[in-house]
Amino acid sequence: MPAEERLQAIRAQVQQCRACPLSVGRTLAVPGEGPASSRVMFIGEGPGYHEDQQGQPFVGQAGKFLDELLASVGMKRSDVYICNVVKCHPPRNRDPEPDEIEAYLPFLKEQLRIIGPEVICTLGRVAAQALLAKDFRITEQRGQWRSYQGTPLMPTFHPAYLLHNPAAKREVWKDVKQIMA
Ligand code: URA
Repeated sequence: MPAEERLQAIRAQVQQCRACPLSVGRTLAVPGEGPASSRVMFIGEGPGYHEDQQGQPFVGQAGKFLDELLASVGMKRSDVYICNVVKCHPPRNRDPEPDEIEAYLPFLKEQLRIIGPEVICTLGRVAAQALLAKDFRITEQRGQWRSYQGTPLMPTFHPAYLLHNPAAKREVWKDVKQIMA
């Protein structure tokens, strides 16, 4: 099956999924978006309020910052694949629980297999811990190349963190520049 169709199939499965408690409170599931041919994949934590309302990843304030960040290195949202570890909005934006992350990981892993990006960029602690190690420490270990099953992975801060810590924007910009290089 062509990659775009395989991504569509995942999208349909995520939209119907009732495997974990987060699905009960959702308005819309947020499978992820972008071309199957994307060379870079950005992975966040989970949908916020606006994402839950619209069914698309990173469309709220954090998304606006992500768009600006992409533009600053000459990329557009439509050039990359953007998704989250968990596909349904955690109530009050709480961190996803380990069993919720486990429930959604097969979808994320399948998205990674289908797209086969050249580079993965995890946004924030939850995504880095989900793909690298449960004890990954974002403040100390961001900005250093890692590998996820042979694919280079750059862990950086979550855009929402930058809304409250603008000084860290410089670090994230450096990390994304490394991806471009
Ligand atoms: N934060 C995330 O981690 N993902 C989104 O899609 C939006 C905000």
